[in-house]
Amino acid sequence: MNNVVLKCQSLKKTYKKKNRKLVILKDINYEFKSGHVYAIVGKSGAGKTTLINILGLLKKQDSGKIFILNNDVSKINENKASEIRNKNIGFVFQSFYLDPLLTTEENIKLPMLLNNSLDKIKINERVKKLLKEVELEDRETHFPKELSGGEQQRVAIARALANNPDIILADEPTGSLDPENEENILNILKSLAKKGKCIIIVTHSKTVREYADIVLELKKGILEEVSRD
Ligand SMILES: Nc1ncnc2c1ncn2[C@@H]1O[C@H](COP(=O)(O)OP(=O)(O)O)[C@@H](O)[C@H]1O
Ligand SMILES: [Mg+2]
Repeated sequence: MNNVVLKCQSLKKTYKKKNRKLVILKDINYEFKSGHVYAIVGKSGAGKTTLINILGLLKKQDSGKIFILNNDVSKINENKASEIRNKNIGFVFQSFYLDPLLTTEENIKLPMLLNNSLDKIKINERVKKLLKEVELEDRETHFPKELSGGEQQRVAIARALANNPDIILADEPTGSLDPENEENILNILKSLAKKGKCIIIVTHSKTVREYADIVLELKKGILEEVSRD
């Protein structure tokens, strides 16, 4: 518990558009530890999504380093990055991104099928456990369109947990949910942190801020700890 699982050093990202340079991330330095919920706040356009995508190896920084579980992943190729994403990182997005043609159970199973170390029996056991964890045992054969928004997000969380990652990255995970479902999702994420995961949530929500152990503000390309209220 409380080991550094994700570290970034001097991260920099600039977007170029029509000869104009937009410095989004100037110099980002932070050590994220297991067992914590982090909220990253900041104005719209501050670069929160850019940052979380870079931390999740979905996007490349211009310069600076990222370490995942003490391994420098700054210079790895796309194959290796996709392996690390599948194994060490779980993603949760505002719009869920579930496969509409797959049931709850199949959506959760998908990342496990890409993981060669699990056999069929283990996969089925694990799906059952995850369904229980997000309280969707009786929705296993539902398709996304047959589920409420809160339920869809719980499927997405179970899917993010499929390969037991150390890090969960969530971009506005409660952005399209009502207050009750928001609290429900936050309680699940909080209990995952208690079990040792590192949870990083990009958010606008005041409720998320209150739930977080540590609040970080992204402002003018710099990430800094701020008070929770
Ligand atoms: N691919 C891109 N090309 C050019 N500009 C971009 C691109 N992606 C994002 N931006 C710009 O970078 C800024 C930060 O975007 P984003 O990371 O999505 O911010 P946030 O999530 O904090 O709202 C925005 O002003 C946006 O217009
Ligand atoms: Mg965003």
